[in-house]
Amino acid sequence: MTKPISFARGAPSLDIVDVEGLRSAADRAFTTDPGGVTAYGTSIGYPPLRAWIAERHQVKPEQVIVTNGSMQADAFLFEALVSPGDVVIVERPTYDRTLLSLRQRGADVRMVELEPDGIDVGALERVLVAGVKPKLAHIIPNFQNPAGYTLSADKRERLLALAREHEFTIFEDDPYVELRFDGSREATMLSMDGDTVVYASSFSKTVCPGIRVGYLVGPAELIARITKIATSTYISPSMVSQAIVNEFCRSGALETSIETVKAALRERAKTLADALARELPDAQFVAPQGGYFMWVELPPGADVNALFTAAAERGVQFVKGSDFVLDGAGSSLRLAYSGVTPEEIEEGVRRLADAYRDTTTPRSAHAA
Ligand SMILES: Cc1ncc(COP(=O)(O)O)c(C=O)c1O
Repeated sequence: MTKPISFARGAPSLDIVDVEGLRSAADRAFTTDPGGVTAYGTSIGYPPLRAWIAERHQVKPEQVIVTNGSMQADAFLFEALVSPGDVVIVERPTYDRTLLSLRQRGADVRMVELEPDGIDVGALERVLVAGVKPKLAHIIPNFQNPAGYTLSADKRERLLALAREHEFTIFEDDPYVELRFDGSREATMLSMDGDTVVYASSFSKTVCPGIRVGYLVGPAELIARITKIATSTYISPSMVSQAIVNEFCRSGALETSIETVKAALRERAKTLADALARELPDAQFVAPQGGYFMWVELPPGADVNALFTAAAERGVQFVKGSDFVLDGAGSSLRLAYSGVTPEEIEEGVRRLADAYRDTTTPRSAHAA
């Protein structure tokens, strides 16, 4: 049996999760605060973790709500701000779950092209000048999912200026910010303008996804409104998970975990880039400076549906580019390197290249 190799899942492999650190954080949480850990708690999240997040972002605790994963934070924000028919700007391509969630709410989703240095701000400006009035622009600024691209400092400024002028909120969705393995970090748009931006992040990529802890930072009045939605949705998020994360962060284990994850991702991204350049020279990509993902473009006309099937026959999974757009992207794919070892990447790319040759070789050559 061929060993399956998945470039599909945006999740870490077990070897880069600090299981021991989590076990001892859990032990400390139950020992030091048994009452707080085992009670319902409150819908704003576990207060000590909320305070830790507030301090990290230099905001007041009233500006923070801690949720069961940042997907939950996204859902609360959309419930608070987006009504059916409201225009929401998203990047093209963008995270498939956000796209789905917005469409399920009945939002009028407008995609604006993503470039290697972030959303095409000129194209966005043209859309705004033409009279479109968005409620929200959803932006994944660092190591974007699915493209791996990062928004430049200049574009962050221009985006904020457009948001102020045209009175829409920027939703800065930033779960990968800590995972930079090359170059220098850009300031968050939240730190540049706390009135215009609502910020989300997560411990899924720095601690582990199973812990399900994420958060929102925004104006206190909006967070208060979202807190009411949270109360009526689930009374409170998991105090157990949040107390564990709190201990993990305050003990310094978070910083160690981030270093482990970044070192592994740096090696995996490089292995993937080298293997693609060697085995699949038709693949165009921008080597990411951090995060989990690489966006691969094959020559126009390449049939990624056929490639998907041929790769699956060889035990290799990826996500088709078309899943991240409203239409098009038929010759693109997303490769996640977060859950595969360098050896699996080498082998996976060899099989992918073999599948690609199979889909591009004329039928007559097969018969020969
Ligand atoms: C851009 C983006 N936002 C949100 C999420 C959801 O993260 P969480 O696990 O915190 O719900 C992901 C997960 O892959 C993501 O890529």
